[in-house]
Amino acid sequence: MAMTGVLRPGHAIVRVLDLDESVHFYTNVMGMKETGRDKSGRVYFKCHDERDHNSFIIRQADRAGIDCFAFKVLNKATLDLLDTKLREHGIQTERVPAGELLETGERVRFEIPSGHIIELYAEKTDVGNGLGYLNPAPWLPDTKGINPVRMDHCLLYGPEIDAVHKLFNEVLGFSVVERALLEDGVTDLGLWLTCSPKAHDIALVRHNEPGKLHHVSFLLETWEQVLRAADILSMNKASIDIGPTRHGITRGTTIYFFDPSGNRMEVFCGGYQWYPDMKPTVWTWDEIGTGIFYHNRKLNDAFLSVLT
Ligand SMILES: [Fe+2]
Repeated sequence: MAMTGVLRPGHAIVRVLDLDESVHFYTNVMGMKETGRDKSGRVYFKCHDERDHNSFIIRQADRAGIDCFAFKVLNKATLDLLDTKLREHGIQTERVPAGELLETGERVRFEIPSGHIIELYAEKTDVGNGLGYLNPAPWLPDTKGINPVRMDHCLLYGPEIDAVHKLFNEVLGFSVVERALLEDGVTDLGLWLTCSPKAHDIALVRHNEPGKLHHVSFLLETWEQVLRAADILSMNKASIDIGPTRHGITRGTTIYFFDPSGNRMEVFCGGYQWYPDMKPTVWTWDEIGTGIFYHNRKLNDAFLSVLT
C-alpha cells in the first residue's frame, strides 16, 4: 500500500484524576519519556522508538477517559483535502491552531458519530528516538519500566459504528481488517480498521453510551516482553485486567491493565500484516469469546462493561 492520506495514529489525549500519580505511572511503570508540559498543565510523553515529540498526553480532570485520538496525515495539502472531504460528508470540523499542543502543527478536529473526538494533523516536531539518523545503535541502554516501542492503536466504544465505518472508509481511506458480528449474524458488534499494513490502527465496539474509551495500546517487540510487562505491573501493584494471553482477532499477544485513574491500557506484540487485497476476517457471535481472548475462549465481564 502506498502510504498516502492518513499515515498512522499520532497522539491520544487521556484524562487522569491525579496528575502526579499518573506521571509516575507513565514514566516509571510504562517507561515512557516525558517530553514536555504546557501552560494548561498537560503532560506529554513519547515511547522509545517514536521520533515525533509526543504520542500520549495526559491532563488532570474530574473523570477519566479520552479527550481525543489523533492521526498524522502525509502533509498540509492532505490535511486541507481531508478537511474538505469531511465537510462534504456532513461532518463539522474545527481548525485548532499550530502550537495549541506542544510541537504540533494545525489540527483538524471533529466529532464522529460514536461521540469521540478525532483529530488530524500533518506536522509534529521530530525530536528523534535518541539514536540519531546516521549509523544508529539498535536501542538505547537507559530504559525504564515496560518501555513500549510506540503508541499503536485504540479501541473506542460508542453508538453508530456503521456510520463511523462509512466515514473512516469513504472519507479517511481506512479498510476493515476484522469484524465481530452480533447474534443476528449481520450487525457489527466490533470493527478493526486500518490505514496501513497493520492489522488495526483503530477499533470500535458498538455501545449505547457515546465517547467511551476501552483502551489505548502500545507495541512491544516480543512475547517475552509482554510477560515482562506483567511482571513489572505486578511489582508496581498495578491493576491487571487480563493476560498475558492472545487475541484471536488480529492475533496479537496482549496484556490489559489499568492506569491509576482506571483508564485501560494494553501492551501487545505480534499480529499480522494486512494488504488491501485481503478480505476481512469475520468472527461470529458464538465464537466472540475466542476472538477476544483466544485461550479463555470467553469474554470477562470487564471487557464489555469497564470503560472510561
Ligand atoms: Fe488493542
